[in-house]
This record gives sequence, C-alpha cells and structure tokens, in this order.
Amino acid sequence: MSTPEFAGLTALVTGGASGIGLATARLLAARGARVACLDLTPDDLPKPLIGIRADVTDDAGVRTAVEEAARLLDGIDILINNAGIGAQGTLEDNTDDEWHRVFDVNVLGMVRVTRAALPHLHRSDSAAVVNTCSIAATAGLPDRVLYSATKGAVLALTRASAADLVHSGIRVNCVNPGTADTPWISRLLDRAADPAAERAALDARQPMGRLVAAEEVAAAIAYLASPLAGSTTGTDLAVDGGMHGLRIRPRT
Ligand SMILES: NC(=O)c1ccc[n+]([C@@H]2O[C@H](COP(=O)([O-])OP(=O)(O)OC[C@H]3O[C@@H](n4cnc5c(N)ncnc54)[C@H](O)[C@@H]3O)[C@@H](O)[C@H]2O)c1
Repeated sequence: MSTPEFAGLTALVTGGASGIGLATARLLAARGARVACLDLTPDDLPKPLIGIRADVTDDAGVRTAVEEAARLLDGIDILINNAGIGAQGTLEDNTDDEWHRVFDVNVLGMVRVTRAALPHLHRSDSAAVVNTCSIAATAGLPDRVLYSATKGAVLALTRASAADLVHSGIRVNCVNPGTADTPWISRLLDRAADPAAERAALDARQPMGRLVAAEEVAAAIAYLASPLAGSTTGTDLAVDGGMHGLRIRPRT
C-alpha cells in the first residue's frame, strides 16, 4: 500500500468544527495528517480530530491555543485559516462597530493565528498556509460590501505573506469558494422571508446551477496544503461552480 499523502504531517484548522473547516479537517486526517481544530465550539468533533477552544479575536487565547496544538500534534506543518463570519448590507447599513467586528474575525483572526503558528511552520520541511477567501474577493456581490472587503483583504494578505515567506519555504495560498452548502448558508436561509425562493436564487447564481459542496472546497484546500503542490504559492483557487470565470447564457 502507498504511503498516505499527509503521513507524518500535522495540521491546524481554524473554524474546524463546522462546514468547510470540518470537511477539510476530516479530509486531511483521512489522508494521514494529525489534525487539530481551533474553534469557538470544538465539541463533538469526530475522532481522530482534536478540538481546541479559542476565539481568533483574542490574541492571548490564540497564542495559548496554537502552542497547545503544537504540543498535542508535535509541531504544525499546515495551517488552514478558515474561521470566518458573514455580514450583510450596503455601505449605509453597517455601523463602524460592525465593520471592526467583522474585520477582527475575518482578517485579523488570520493574522493572529498565522503569527502564532509561524515559529512552528519555520521548523517544517512541508510548511503550508491555506486561507479560506471567497468569490466575494473577486466579484462584486450585492449587499455584501463589508464581508467582501474583508475577503479582498484576505486575498491581498495571502499574496503579500506568500512573498514574505517564500524564502523560508512556507507556501501561502487561498481558496475562493462560491456559495457553499454549509450550516452558514442554512442559517442565512432560515432568516430569509422566503427560504425556498432564496435557495433557488443562490443555486441559480452558480453557473452549475447548484451550491458548492464543503467537501469540494476541502479537496481544493488539501491540494494547496499538500507537499505535492510544492511549487504553488501566492495563488487563489476558485471553487465556485464557474461563478467567477464564466460568462454563460441564461438557461432556456
Ligand atoms: N458557506 C459559504 O457560502 C462560503 C463561501 C465563501 C467563503 N466562505 C468562507 O468559508 C469559511 C467557513 O465558512 P462555513 O460556510 O464553513 O461556515 P460555518 O459557519 O459552517 O463554520 C465557521 C466556523 O468558524 C467558527 N468561528 C467563527 N468565528 C470564530 C472565532 N471568532 N474564533 C474561532 N472560530 C470561529 C465557527 O464556530 C464555525 O465552526 C469562512 O471563512 C467563510 O467566509 C464560505
């Protein structure tokens, strides 16, 4: 039998208790990695995933959690910065406090976790960081100005940190999912006036006519995290059913 792709490697996944993060943690573990999930609610994780409770907005808590992960896993080779929250509205709708809150989670959260993990990544021969960005970074979506601004920052942060770390052998990439079928979207639909109509509209916005599966995003993250992608850094990989790149005619 061949050696699993991630055998001997360790991974820390933020937001690893739900949706895309959980699918990624499961996939990396299935391919041989030892995996810890940093989350607000790391309860009920399936074995062999290790749960570590932390809030990415709390720098001291993040540092403690990352050290705990490194101790339990015996190092950190791979960091998946995936924890994130949504925000709806136009420029006129969100207060300054809301802008600070969402940037604090979606952008500064990645900065804090990466900063804390860097000493461990520097010690790895297969170091990789993968950030969960979004189609919102590369396409203008209505009613998502704050969320999109955070993901635009994640895209720029990914490229700039890839440049800073290239000589250290630490690769940094991101994935840009389209609307993905996760608990996040279920919560969004629950709040809609007409959930069935909202779901149909989200499906129709994807050229493939369906939402992206969390497992499909996880597969792209695993590709970028893998030592097999050793020449890939500073890129963003769309996993969006063609939403960013295609210009198709409406279905007849
Ligand atoms: N679902 C989509 O349509 C979609 C599309 C594009 C990008 N994304 C991005 O994918 C990522 C994951 O989204 P998902 O759909 O899996 O969402 P989800 O809500 O299912 O999972 C997000 C996880 O992040 C955790 N989290 C949130 N705030 C945190 C904090 N302050 N500290 C620690 N953990 C925290 C939550 O507890 C949760 O487990 C996010 O960054 C999101 O922006 C999602």
